[in-house]
Amino acid sequence: MAKKYYIKTFGCQMNVNDSEKMGGLLESMGYEKAPSPEEADVIIVNTCSVRAKPDNKAYSFIGNLKQIKRKKPEAIVAVSGCVPQKEREQILRFNHVDLVFGTFNFVRLPQLLERVKKEGRTIEILNSKIPEEERIPLIESSLENPYVAYITVQRGCNRFCTYCIVPFTRGRERSVKPQLVVEEARRLAERGVKEVHLLGQNVDFYNYEGVDLADLLYMVSEVPGIERVRFTTSHPAGFNEKIARAIRDIDKVCPYVHLPPQSGSNRILERMNRGYTREEYIEKVKMLKELVPNVALSGDFIVGFPGETEKDFEETLSLVEECVFDQGFVFEYSPRPFTKASTFEDNVPKEVKNMRLKELQDLIKRQAEERNRKRVGKVEEVLIEGFSPKGTELYGRTRDNKPVAVVGGKELIGKFVKVKITESSPFFLKGEPAAELVEVE
Ligand code: SAH
Ligand code: SF4
Ligand code: F3S
Repeated sequence: MAKKYYIKTFGCQMNVNDSEKMGGLLESMGYEKAPSPEEADVIIVNTCSVRAKPDNKAYSFIGNLKQIKRKKPEAIVAVSGCVPQKEREQILRFNHVDLVFGTFNFVRLPQLLERVKKEGRTIEILNSKIPEEERIPLIESSLENPYVAYITVQRGCNRFCTYCIVPFTRGRERSVKPQLVVEEARRLAERGVKEVHLLGQNVDFYNYEGVDLADLLYMVSEVPGIERVRFTTSHPAGFNEKIARAIRDIDKVCPYVHLPPQSGSNRILERMNRGYTREEYIEKVKMLKELVPNVALSGDFIVGFPGETEKDFEETLSLVEECVFDQGFVFEYSPRPFTKASTFEDNVPKEVKNMRLKELQDLIKRQAEERNRKRVGKVEEVLIEGFSPKGTELYGRTRDNKPVAVVGGKELIGKFVKVKITESSPFFLKGEPAAELVEVE
């Protein structure tokens, strides 16, 4: 019987993509996906340490695996990703963990498993890029979604925002050779993928020997079969007019930009070391919305950063009022090891952080609701990805990344369907196929 694997992933899309690659590597070794960790011979926990919450969740998940290991001692328990990259000692305290590796060497998973089998407990944490990393885009991946896939085009980060652990867990910024990105897109298209998301911590700083993100968008859009191209995460200091023009001029590039402001107060932006001002942020959004009027804007925000006053927070609210968001992820500040901000006094009380979080979320929700309401009655192109979790309706996304529940049968899965929007809520639309407009493929 084939051996089985189970991967539990915490964190960002890049981690999801790394897990897909690990799944692909295991499948090329003959492993099959297990529906639960209990049934697996290799269990991998791919961790995130960006805030205390995912970090704690990963630790409790690892802790719970002890029971499984007790019943099935031959199973291999592995921990990978951002947590061990920086805190291997804490992971090693769990005696039931057999393999620990980091963010630079997950591509070495087959060799590492061999070592566990021969030598027992294995730890390999590297601190810089390895030659195999270049091959990462070319190895097999097991796709979470058969129609929409990630391509990691840039790894690491050089910016050292004072609150952020990522530069410590992912190392220095490096871009993947454009030819490899295109080859990956081509390979994915051959497997039936129709939409690709180009991933980078600060993807608009993508640069490989002079090829920038806009150039890369042109190159990937030429791949036959790939009908939609998205990219994330943008950085307000790197986002520029050339990228906005690429969104406007290339049909396949979707009008959706995730451009996290973090704060609307210049004083806080400076303490965060973000490298732009509130005015520059607003100016860029204006430029984007002028060039691409139907663009959807999304952002991340941190509330309760050390020293954030009521006035600073009001400036964040007013930035949001001015820019108008379709989606926003609001986080309460959480001090992280190794970061500069962890030496600042975390002096905004928990209740205040929580109140600000709710107030900002409410504002974004109202903006999103209003923008979605205007879409009722319109016809939108939706890529149907599958059934919704309840299984009663289909699920897909518009070109500007809005999730839509669509009435219809499984024959529409994997198709671009013209959908008439019938209902709206802040972050969700509902619709039905505009029958005569269903595209033939
Ligand atoms: N590279 C991206 C995203 C980095 S992590 C960028 O620069 O925007 C994703 C989000 O987590 C960040 O945008 C930020 O809003 C949030 N985040 C990161 N560190 C945090 C911390 N210490 N406390 C709270 N939120 C944090
Ligand atoms: Fe973290 Fe800042 Fe780098 Fe984003 S740009 S990954 S927030 S250090
Ligand atoms: Fe988390 Fe690492 Fe991604 S810390 S957000 S998994 S880069």
